[in-house]
Amino acid sequence: MGKQPSVRIATPRQLTSELVIIGCFKGRAPDTGRLPSGLTNAAARAVERSGWKGREKQIARGQTRTKESSQIAVYGLGGAADFGSKELRSWSARAIKAATEEGYRDLLLVLPDHPAVKGRAALRLLVDLDLSGYRFDRFQSKTPKSKLRTIRVLPPAGEDKSYREMLKVADTVASAVTFGRDLANTPPNEANPEWMANEARQLASSRSMKIKVLGPKELARIGMGGILAVGGGSASPPRLVRLEWGKGPQTISFVGKGVTFDTGGISIKPAGGMDEMKYDKSGACTVLGIAQAAADLDLPFRFRAYLPLAENMPDGLSYRPGDIVRCYNGKTVEVLNTDAEGRMILADALSWAAEEEPGTLLEYSTLTGASVVALGHHAASLYTPDDFLAAELLDAAEDSNERLWRMPLWPEYREEMKGTHADLRNVAGRWGGANTAAAFLSQFVGKTERWAHLDIAATAYVAGDQKGSKGATGYGVALTSAWLLELANRF
Ligand code: BES
Ligand code: MN
Ligand code: ZN
Repeated sequence: MGKQPSVRIATPRQLTSELVIIGCFKGRAPDTGRLPSGLTNAAARAVERSGWKGREKQIARGQTRTKESSQIAVYGLGGAADFGSKELRSWSARAIKAATEEGYRDLLLVLPDHPAVKGRAALRLLVDLDLSGYRFDRFQSKTPKSKLRTIRVLPPAGEDKSYREMLKVADTVASAVTFGRDLANTPPNEANPEWMANEARQLASSRSMKIKVLGPKELARIGMGGILAVGGGSASPPRLVRLEWGKGPQTISFVGKGVTFDTGGISIKPAGGMDEMKYDKSGACTVLGIAQAAADLDLPFRFRAYLPLAENMPDGLSYRPGDIVRCYNGKTVEVLNTDAEGRMILADALSWAAEEEPGTLLEYSTLTGASVVALGHHAASLYTPDDFLAAELLDAAEDSNERLWRMPLWPEYREEMKGTHADLRNVAGRWGGANTAAAFLSQFVGKTERWAHLDIAATAYVAGDQKGSKGATGYGVALTSAWLLELANRF
């Protein structure tokens, strides 16, 4: 099944469309230099008639008088000086919304001539256009179908070739984001640890990756006490997946939290909003999306991915507050709250990843509500001791519009995580909960220096009480792809 709508780069010969939307700055005439005279004239007439000034969101509408008639709309972009990738995206989103709601089959987007539309900045725009029709409707008996089949983009003059190359990359990234979202949106009665491992197996076999899937017996044999403890209360036993692919002098490893449902366990969560804990596997889903993108983009690195998968349930076999658990690197953890389960499974997975000595280690997890309290839903929290890695990731976050904000890893937080009867405890006091969680994880990266923890609890999904379309966002796939492309010196 092809994705709807499909995105293309317009060629000057194909400039007819049912709907043409032209972006235009305040105080300027519509940038119609690349358009045929029929469209140029129609734009000029529309602007004149409506007393249009180009204020942000102001719209002038008109119609061509040529034989292939088009509706045209000139959209105000506000002042050119205030225009950036945010404004660009909000413009394109409004354009697509209008085209969809009004039932057009094709849309031509005429981009303004502006630095924010050139070079790397264009990648996220194209990814967004590709994702504009995303829906998770596998369980919906009746779904209203959008008529919009094609979105053509007319780049500013001189950018055609780079847009055409960028679109190939964007299509690859968008399909990886879609994969990640589909996994994360899948309900927990289907998406249990075994199901997630099977999805990883399918990805591995389609992309010639090496894969290993460990079940409870092997986990017990090698001493993965954290994953076993968290998965103990579930009728769906835990798994640990390891993937390996690619070639290159550097090894980049990814770890993703895969709690397929988080009830809190014996320290059970309140009922309200608990359904959202199906997204507690988002870290693992993002890592699978990244794996797909990294393989399809054919990047010159060796990659490894580790997915600890478990369901956190209350049961006679559950782990309990007071338990002391031994993790894969030998450290013991006193469980004070079974709802702090993410760090328990990550402790094992990070220890294994670190043992294999990666050059860079990135870990993604919906780890703490405290990170949502800190930043709201506007950014994920970045923890890393490496200033260079921080700068690289913050840059990629900017480019991909998946915001990150760096948080502290001070020794005081580590101090708070010391146990009474074990090396560590799994929770400290109430304050700075995202930071103490990160400090806990930092004790499982071994000798790895270039590591980062991304707490994506705030950005992995759009919750019921938020604006926008609900569901998994695939946060981290576009960000990490942008980072990898930069690292590989592409664009
Ligand atoms: N999966 C949750 C974190 C979470 C909360 C993700 C809200 C998305 C939205 C995690 O396992 C958890 O329960 N964390 C606890 C930690 C606490 C017990 C120290 C939390 O944040 O309350
Ligand atoms: Mn929890
Ligand atoms: Zn959790």
